[in-house]
Amino acid sequence: MDASNVDQAAYRGKHFTIPAFSKRGGIRFHGSAKSNIIQVDRSHPVIATLNQPFDLKHFKAARRPFSMGKLPPELTAALGDPALSMPRTLDLPVKFPGSDYRLPGKLALVEPILRRAANLEALINPCIDEYYCYLTVDGGWVEVGLLQREAPCHVDGFQGARWIPKVRGNHSYTVSNAVPTGYYVQPFDFDRLDEAKHNFFWEMNRQVALSNSEFEWTPEDGEMTLMDCYCVHRGKPTSIRVWRTFVRISFEVRIFDRLGNAHNPLFAYDWPMVKRDIEDLNLVAFDETSDPSLRVFPHQRPDGTAHEGRNKTQPNLRPRGASAVTDGNKE
Ligand SMILES: [Fe+2]
Repeated sequence: MDASNVDQAAYRGKHFTIPAFSKRGGIRFHGSAKSNIIQVDRSHPVIATLNQPFDLKHFKAARRPFSMGKLPPELTAALGDPALSMPRTLDLPVKFPGSDYRLPGKLALVEPILRRAANLEALINPCIDEYYCYLTVDGGWVEVGLLQREAPCHVDGFQGARWIPKVRGNHSYTVSNAVPTGYYVQPFDFDRLDEAKHNFFWEMNRQVALSNSEFEWTPEDGEMTLMDCYCVHRGKPTSIRVWRTFVRISFEVRIFDRLGNAHNPLFAYDWPMVKRDIEDLNLVAFDETSDPSLRVFPHQRPDGTAHEGRNKTQPNLRPRGASAVTDGNKE
């Protein structure tokens, strides 16, 4: 089957296109520590605490992703070329515990990026055989003032109340050709929050807004980074219309069985896919007096009612020099 054949999945007003990949033309390889070209700083917090169980205490120290430098310019340019677009792919398993890496041919453009991650993992991660690796590839035009992937401040791989005991934390490699992700390199204090009750992502919004986004750090176009589940981040709006391809390579010990995730025919597996959203947890804001834009989901207006169409609410993170509140209510 060709990747242009797609399944559609939709729930809670969210629409997903699930690409159908072929076994034919699949690319297989192993990570190789000897082939790693990245200079490693083993004292970097993301690398020093790799493989530790998820622990909220790590939010208390400002945490910057580990930079792996820039991709070759021609590869960054290819990611920005709509003629080379790849099927939109969410959390496709490309490695199982103990397996090699297996990449569908339609995603061949990503191979050198996946190899960079795989080779570095082979060097720095003694527990690599316990992990799945999931690949997200999301390419598309981003319009002025809008985000490709709308979300509050968040981390990837947060382990909330459902996860007892906690397991090894997520770490993820990301890169985009344009409009890089913003990271908030500041301490976060969640001591008074209850993970069964409070929405931690809304609280991240609030603490970033309290500091007027002063500690935002943004990598360069084409700069690949390694973050972990304590690196708070958010997509940023673009000032020019641009074709953006975002690539994320996530290492996780857990199964990602969320409805909407892509299936890899290069592995034999059959996971029942589950509708799962943070909305289902009915969490509330820790500070219910904060700016309403900081404590709603992007698909809600600041008053909590649903947006129509594709409008989204952006949290007002109060970056210096910005004009008043953005309520995103443009319809
Ligand atoms: Fe993220």
